[in-house]
Amino acid sequence: MELEAKHSFHGELSVPGDKSISHRGIMFGAISNGLTEVSNFLQGADCLSTISCFRQLGISIENDGCKVLVHGKGLHGLTAPSQILNVGNSGTTLRLISGILAGQPFQSTLDGDASIRKRPMKRIFTPLSEMGAWFQCWDSSHFPKQQQKTNSDCAPFTIQGGNTKHIHYHSPIASAQVKSAVLLAGLYGDGITKVTEPVLSRNHTELMLAGFGADILSTDTTAAIRPEPKLEGQSIHVPGDISSAAYFIALGLIHPHAEILIQNTGINPTRSGILQAAIAMGGKLTLLNQRTVSGEPVADILVSSSNLHGTVIEGNMIPTLIDELPILAVMAAFAEGTTIIKDAQELKVKESDRIATVTENLKAMGGDITPTPDGMVIKGHTPLHGAQIKTYGDHRIAMSFAIAGLNAQGKTTFDEEGCVTVSYPSFYEDIERLAW
Ligand code: S3P
Repeated sequence: MELEAKHSFHGELSVPGDKSISHRGIMFGAISNGLTEVSNFLQGADCLSTISCFRQLGISIENDGCKVLVHGKGLHGLTAPSQILNVGNSGTTLRLISGILAGQPFQSTLDGDASIRKRPMKRIFTPLSEMGAWFQCWDSSHFPKQQQKTNSDCAPFTIQGGNTKHIHYHSPIASAQVKSAVLLAGLYGDGITKVTEPVLSRNHTELMLAGFGADILSTDTTAAIRPEPKLEGQSIHVPGDISSAAYFIALGLIHPHAEILIQNTGINPTRSGILQAAIAMGGKLTLLNQRTVSGEPVADILVSSSNLHGTVIEGNMIPTLIDELPILAVMAAFAEGTTIIKDAQELKVKESDRIATVTENLKAMGGDITPTPDGMVIKGHTPLHGAQIKTYGDHRIAMSFAIAGLNAQGKTTFDEEGCVTVSYPSFYEDIERLAW
């Protein structure tokens, strides 16, 4: 595929359903009683991995390509899988399902693709072991890697759960995946489980689990959950994913002739740092028709061509836009002045090392970027030219540099652009529809 600059981008679109919320709808439906209906479900590869794992755990799930019906069997209704649970590229599937499996009186083995096998799992092994789960890591040919319980920290691994103890976990990182794993294990505990984070991470688990009937209390950066609730199936409408909307926010702001309305987008404050960052950079961005859908705040986002300037993105803001930092780096390359991104060392352990992969690709396009141990410094307004982008199989790198390529001189190509199916299968078609 080749991308090059277009004259203008105009029109309306709805981005696909939120990835984090789609995963949780399936998982929480599976451990609730009765039917859960998830509409506007994200039919991306990651969420389909979650469906296939829960089918292997004995849950009947119907998927008509838009709406998903989960026939939940209650907190204690899962059955031991007969084969390895394959999470594909999905860190959210792997970490959240491990929390649920920590409460099950059977063994499960989990694995995924080459990227997932490099992602750190010690962050969940530590609290879940404290709660009584047992882990065994394997090498890629499924031979034991370590005899110790928690010293090795990547997939593939086996988890044995049951007899779950409650804990108060003080997480060293602001990670919704870690927080969710502990809270989900806490559903099976022997008392109230608490998680305190250094900074509040996305709170979809707390909001949605409460909707299913869990007794969960959030105070500042601590979430507490009471065990053995009676969870009941729900009807969930998944809002558009702000992480997918971010590419069109950037396109609308960077391009000199653009006006784009992104409808039905989730704007949960624990996720919407991209909006504040874009406004801080001078972006023309308006929120219309604000409402609440299935307990989540939603709006239509109108963006138009803007003269962006540099900013500093740091501290408490980072967890609210962690997945948007690659596209923010691209926006920074089109902004006047310098943008500094710091406190974002978590970028190194995403689907790729995003400090390295953003730096390599932005440099290839002629950008002025300096990587730092916890972020990057980008000097904007150096004219970008087309290049061959190396995605490293990372969907967010492919989409971020597609937006860069649409605003650069000459042609941009990709070593592997298909990875967008992880979170946004219709990404290239949606760009085509807006281009004039
Ligand atoms: C997610 C949490 C974030 C995010 C990921 C999805 C979730 O990861 O980067 O894409 O759905 O809980 P961390 O919890 O590791 O920060």
